[in-house]
Amino acid sequence: MLAIIGGSGLTQLSNMEIERREVARTPYGEPSGALAFGRMCNEPVVFLARHGYGHTIPPHLVNYRANIWALKEAKVSGIVSVASVGGIRSDLAPGTLIVPDQIIDYTWGRKSTFFDGGESPVRHIDFTHPYDEALRRRLLAAVRAAGDSAVDGGVYASTQGPRLETAAEINRLERDGADIVGMTGMPEAALARELGLPYAAISVVVNYAAGRSSSEHGIHFGDIELVLQESMVRVRNVLECLCHV
Ligand code: HPA
Repeated sequence: MLAIIGGSGLTQLSNMEIERREVARTPYGEPSGALAFGRMCNEPVVFLARHGYGHTIPPHLVNYRANIWALKEAKVSGIVSVASVGGIRSDLAPGTLIVPDQIIDYTWGRKSTFFDGGESPVRHIDFTHPYDEALRRRLLAAVRAAGDSAVDGGVYASTQGPRLETAAEINRLERDGADIVGMTGMPEAALARELGLPYAAISVVVNYAAGRSSSEHGIHFGDIELVLQESMVRVRNVLECLCHV
């Protein structure tokens, strides 16, 4: 059973038949909301809204550990993350779908590991390739099956938020090699790896990053909202195709 973690603009899956909701308790506290168990084109799936069902939890306060732990406990076979991002590279215009293959983590002060010392011996994970390649391929195949297109690969910069970046910060991220910028990619991906769960992401570019192209003089939230609504219809179609590929 696959898990889908939905971000901004995707707090529910209209094409999913929900069978039950379960409030999970974990050693790390409560997840962002109840896990919604159900079916999408007859395949079992579990959905979780990263920011809560009323979109009330900002990126730096999401209980990433509880979310990932609860999905592990639910025995999911992998996690697909949906998140909106800003496009740094000039060809990554609003409306572009992208399945990233690398991450740079700029977040701070988040509870970012299950291996926090205490009783158990220190453990490290290999994170050379932060996303699961088989799940990435499946996502890209689902995009094609949906008759849509997505950019294969890119470097996701995870910033702290909740504010957007300055133009100089975006220039720095670009010098570092980042292609897109979002606020929730980390520690989510690393926590999934720590628990051995395959994890991949489909990112939706909803704005040019600060200082770039149409965002040269600022980012317009009204425009983001429009792109978000249109793009999430496409993402829902892609997710539905996941069970056919
Ligand atoms: N920066 C960070 N996170 C984002 C952005 C952005 O420009 N757009 C959507 N999420």
